[in-house]
Amino acid sequence: MKITVIGTGYVGITTAASLGEIGHQIIGVDIDKLKIEQLNNGILPIYEPGVEPVIQNLLKQGTLHFTTSLQEAMKETEIIFIAVGTPQLSDGRPDLKYVDEVAREVGRYMSKYIVIVDKSTVPVGTAERVQSLIMEQLNLRKLSVSFDVVSNPEFLQEGKALQNSRNPDRIVLGCSSRAAEEIMLKLYDNIDAPKHITSPRNAEMIKYASNSFLATKITFINEMARLCDLLAVDVVEVAKGMGMDKRIGPYFLQAGIGYGGSCFPKDVSALAMMGREANMEMSILRSIQEINQTQTDWFLGRVKESMGVLDGKRITLLGLAFKPDTDDIREAPSLKLIQKLLTEGAIVTGFDPVANNKIKNIFPNVKISEDAYSAAKDAEAVVICTEWKEIIDLDWRTIKSLMHGNFIFDGRNALDGDMLQLEEFQYWGVGRSLNKIV
Ligand SMILES: NC(=O)c1ccc[n+]([C@@H]2O[C@H](COP(=O)([O-])OP(=O)(O)OC[C@H]3O[C@@H](n4cnc5c(N)ncnc54)[C@H](O)[C@@H]3O)[C@@H](O)[C@H]2O)c1
Repeated sequence: MKITVIGTGYVGITTAASLGEIGHQIIGVDIDKLKIEQLNNGILPIYEPGVEPVIQNLLKQGTLHFTTSLQEAMKETEIIFIAVGTPQLSDGRPDLKYVDEVAREVGRYMSKYIVIVDKSTVPVGTAERVQSLIMEQLNLRKLSVSFDVVSNPEFLQEGKALQNSRNPDRIVLGCSSRAAEEIMLKLYDNIDAPKHITSPRNAEMIKYASNSFLATKITFINEMARLCDLLAVDVVEVAKGMGMDKRIGPYFLQAGIGYGGSCFPKDVSALAMMGREANMEMSILRSIQEINQTQTDWFLGRVKESMGVLDGKRITLLGLAFKPDTDDIREAPSLKLIQKLLTEGAIVTGFDPVANNKIKNIFPNVKISEDAYSAAKDAEAVVICTEWKEIIDLDWRTIKSLMHGNFIFDGRNALDGDMLQLEEFQYWGVGRSLNKIV
């Protein structure tokens, strides 16, 4: 099938790669000329494991290309994916201006039946909004063309995006017509996953409910970690024992320094706003936001309890992206932590395997090192913000010999605390008071 994907960010590029792989012809569209130029040369503007070779292969085969012209892309397309950003506005709502712009542009160039698919995360009612924006343009052109708008939310996780798109747990298809449903089923025919066919409004809500539920699970265990810390209980053992219950499951039960990224914070906030607009206060969501916002303060409190006044202390943060295997630093807990440590007067050094440049742009005065060992040199404490495998696998004896002190604050409970204590580190994990510094 001939597909256009509008927006070539994390979601758009992965959608192009995974649909291209199963035999569809893809045109990727973006307003960012530099991105399009890079992509046409097989260079990925983002870090996402495994995607670049797939894109290069499809470009070589001639079944994929990128353009800045939606008009050109729409000439033969059967399906258009909208995969543009929906960032959070200051009042907590998602900004739909990019989705609106795309809808109007589609209406300006549409001349035959097309299925328009919302892949961006958008509030309930957005499929109808996209429908009416397209209709407005068609009316201006005095054209009567039929079309369908489908909601097909994306559930990929950065760092595992290709794997998730190839083998999704489910594909949610919010369709308002039988014709659109058949086209979408044909599109995904080669992907072996359960297809949940429902209405566009239901599909839109499934996305927000799923992300908010995952954020709830993380936040629950983070609050448990705070209590475990007070009661000499190890939250890792607790999560393990809880997760063995099939009704609970082991995923998203790892205590840490809070969730971040471009999705959970904005999606929880958008769902809470949807509730407010419907005159319903979502108290669970309010608590989640509050606990998540204070998780870095709580963590910093533990650092101060161990190290005393932080003014003038050298502290190294390892792993700065919001999670491993991505260069995405949007809403990364490391950003909050760096800011708070600087405010306390600490001398901060950082290292991330791929996100260094992005951090440098935000904190030009923070020293960013090219490798973890140089970052640890002379540090009094090392803080693990993101559990990159290459950080977990560091030679910790060497790190110890380079440091000026011996504190490790493991914000992801990723390291072997017992082993580190044998190496004479003072190790502190999140909610693991049994391993607490004595
Ligand atoms: N990143 C994720 O892990 C993830 C996962 C699931 C869902 N989502 C949702 O998918 C959507 C996209 O997220 P992302 O992380 O890929 O965003 P992104 O910011 O990485 O990419 C968005 C792209 O859209 C482009 N764009 C903006 N306006 C455009 C226009 N008028 N025409 C063409 N291109 C335009 C931008 O230039 C940018 O390249 C969001 O709604 C997000 O919530 C993201």
